[in-house]
Amino acid sequence: MRVAHPTRASLAIVDGAPLLELTDVKVSYGGIKALKGISLRVLPGEIVAMIGANGAGKTTTLKSIMGLLPLAGGAVKLAGRSLAEDSTEKRVAEGISLAPEGRAIFPTLTVLENLELGAYLHRDARAMKETLEDVTRLFPRLGERMKQEGGTLSGGEQQMLAIGRALMARPRLLLLDEPSLGIAPKLVQQIFRAIAEIARSGVTILLVEQNTRIALATSQRAYVLRTGEIALEGDAKELASNPEIQAAYLGG
Ligand SMILES: Nc1ncnc2c1ncn2[C@@H]1O[C@H](COP(=O)(O)OP(=O)(O)OP(=O)(O)O)[C@@H](O)[C@H]1O
Ligand SMILES: [Mg+2]
Repeated sequence: MRVAHPTRASLAIVDGAPLLELTDVKVSYGGIKALKGISLRVLPGEIVAMIGANGAGKTTTLKSIMGLLPLAGGAVKLAGRSLAEDSTEKRVAEGISLAPEGRAIFPTLTVLENLELGAYLHRDARAMKETLEDVTRLFPRLGERMKQEGGTLSGGEQQMLAIGRALMARPRLLLLDEPSLGIAPKLVQQIFRAIAEIARSGVTILLVEQNTRIALATSQRAYVLRTGEIALEGDAKELASNPEIQAAYLGG
């Protein structure tokens, strides 16, 4: 196949109909304005990274997309439709799935039971089996540990389980909150290879990371969040060579 034009995802200018669109999203915790008006778009098939320091509002942004927090303003749309009236469960049914920060797996349930919980909206046995096969193909380590209790997995394996559980809902949009957090570099590489593989299978990804280097290397575009606002956005490769980003986030 010859590619006559650059892919849409490689362009910093975002056109076309987004799968996810946030417009001027505001969230407050009591008197604290955690999000002061976030606008971003994720096109179908893209991996988009959101980077930023501790407390910048990354997790809050993902929670607002899942409907886990009330908005103080703005809108979240999936494929052009406002999610304002939709519960978190409805959003999952519509194809949004979150692998939360800190993994939040059930430690006394087995790997298989944790995965099955992620499929609670897909009770169909055959579909569940197929998705389980996809997840174990992606993460063979999970396949080898189906009967092991979640809490006895290594940190990296727990992260694989959290992503696997999110995939069990068969999302079209996968939200990942710091998949590299507290994980040995070798497993981080494995997890990010799996993330790229998930994207190739057709799942759109919004990736929150503090590991700026690997996030920018894995994504097509990125947003930099600073104290509840988008400070910078653009093509991931251009951002990686931006002196401001290098000084602030890449230790260069
Ligand atoms: N439940 C809460 N109650 C009050 N303030 C909160 C709550 N959750 C988050 N915040 C505040 O909102 C701001 C944004 O937090 P958030 O968790 O979104 O940041 P983050 O970018 O995900 O940070 P980190 O990289 O440390 O995970 C922070 O100042 C935080 O203290
Ligand atoms: Mg966070």
